[in-house]
Amino acid sequence: MTILVTGGLGYIGSHTVVELLNNDFEVVIVDDLSHSEKFILNNIEEITGKKPIFYPFDLKRKELLHQVFEAHKIEGCINFAAYKAVGESQVKPVDYYENNLFTLINILQEFKEREISNFIFSSSCTVYGQADVMPIDENTPLKLPESVYGKTKQMGEEILIDFAKAYHRKITLLRYFNPIGAHPSAKLGELPIGIPNNLVPYVMQTASGIREKLSVWGDDYPTEDGTAVRDYIYVVDLAKAHVAALRKLIENQSEEAVIDIYNLGTGKGSSVLEVVKAFETANNVEVPYQICARREGDITIAYANPGKAEKELGWKSETSLEESLRTTWEWQKYLNSRN
Ligand code: WQD
Repeated sequence: MTILVTGGLGYIGSHTVVELLNNDFEVVIVDDLSHSEKFILNNIEEITGKKPIFYPFDLKRKELLHQVFEAHKIEGCINFAAYKAVGESQVKPVDYYENNLFTLINILQEFKEREISNFIFSSSCTVYGQADVMPIDENTPLKLPESVYGKTKQMGEEILIDFAKAYHRKITLLRYFNPIGAHPSAKLGELPIGIPNNLVPYVMQTASGIREKLSVWGDDYPTEDGTAVRDYIYVVDLAKAHVAALRKLIENQSEEAVIDIYNLGTGKGSSVLEVVKAFETANNVEVPYQICARREGDITIAYANPGKAEKELGWKSETSLEESLRTTWEWQKYLNSRN
């Protein structure tokens, strides 16, 4: 079965492509390389012994996307392609709405015309905003996200729900908590462009001397050590959840609309300082940091109740924070060796 993976050379996309290939799916990648590099494709082949078909273009180019659907019997899609920098989305809202929504709609136009189902959407726990109750399950009420990035994820979910209902198709919304880590081969990982927005890549670059010190955004939160708490999930565990979700969709022979929604996290919260200390312990390195003011738009705490995914997908995130952070450091050393 051939699966279209948009953003398939990106961080989560590339790890998911490896798991799809290891499970004997055929994979067609469309990636504009705006947040990735071509060597990732070669590394996917090194890891799996298989080379996915790759088209380097922007999904806003609907005429090129049409040709891909003409050339391949696409029977499902995992849609990762999106801009994802929360801060950047605040200063470039139109670019974010255009990119994150037009690309999705272009794919859905092809799905609609060709009666294709099995659409998996890369969503985010950000759609919950600051949830009132922890852990966060799929019945937790959504709140309008603070960031434009988060709004594009919530709007994307709404578009897909309407698509599924109107055309009786099968979709899955996967709401990631905080993906971290790298492939055990150290040949895939997060490739931050410029100054990393997210915590773990910044920690990785600080330990490597690329950044002078980590700014800890706020230690006055109502948490145990005053720093904000998140649910850090190992990227390979997250990738495996995509294959489990895809299999469930494929096996569901319903003629009616299918709308599956899963929170993908470990179920455990870790503070910023706990992540810093775990990275130092796991890798026997130092991460110099300074406490700074809170970052605009950040929430205090978010961690998942992964029970629904465990029950319905037979999936559970098994990798510890320290093990995940060990893979991050191995990846940074691989990147250092390439430069
Ligand atoms: C985590 C914690 C920061 C950097 C966002 C999106 C989510 C997903 C992941 C895309 C926060 C603190 C961070 C730093 C810090 N999007 N921090 N110093 O904001 O929870 O989630 O990114 O994949 O949809 O909402 O992740 O890693 O940016 O921040 O203190 O240099 O680390 O304040 O408390 P976040 P993050």
